[in-house]
Amino acid sequence: MRQNPVVFDHPLIQHKLSLLRDKQTGSKEFRELVEELSMLMAYEVTRNLPTKEIEIETPICKTKTRAISGKKLGIIPILRAGLGMVDGMLRIVPTARVGHIGLYRDPDTLNPVEYYCKLPSDVSERDLIVLDPMLATGGTASEAVSYIKKAGCTSIKFVSLIACPEGVSRLMKDHPDVELYVAAIDERLNEHGYIVPGLGDAGDRLYGTK
Ligand code: URA
Repeated sequence: MRQNPVVFDHPLIQHKLSLLRDKQTGSKEFRELVEELSMLMAYEVTRNLPTKEIEIETPICKTKTRAISGKKLGIIPILRAGLGMVDGMLRIVPTARVGHIGLYRDPDTLNPVEYYCKLPSDVSERDLIVLDPMLATGGTASEAVSYIKKAGCTSIKFVSLIACPEGVSRLMKDHPDVELYVAAIDERLNEHGYIVPGLGDAGDRLYGTK
């Protein structure tokens, strides 16, 4: 396993993340940037996929080349903000199946409660990439991973654009087997549960709901 978490330092990822954080960036550009960042992150997240030798025939001759082998991929966005990352991932891994998981925080217990879940029927045989742009308290992320594990999945990567130390610690403590990939680990959470400096509410900025 690679160092965990992996924090991407690619200049394109850092540049696009700065544009995304800027409060002047409107929803259209925000959505485009999330898609572009997801493509770049998909490229890095899939770096260690196994390959095997295959034989093909070019217009010139037969030759041996390499193709991806091993398990098929599944992408699981956590509703709602995770949806913004799906298209970028699919541009890089177009044959991946997509499952959805929705969780809300019970206002009394503050525990995450699942309200929607539709996973591919063969999900337990796939390498899964779970998507949520903001890894804040880590409560939802941890619960989503627990749910997916209960469905039999053993190979899980978690991809966020921005995390904070609290969220990273929680996810790593609850699920040390999960590989975490982020573009930045910010300073902290504030008293309202927002990441500081962060980018605000990712769902609202994606869908213009505020
Ligand atoms: N969810 C968001 O959208 N933003 C945060 O800063 C934290 C959680």
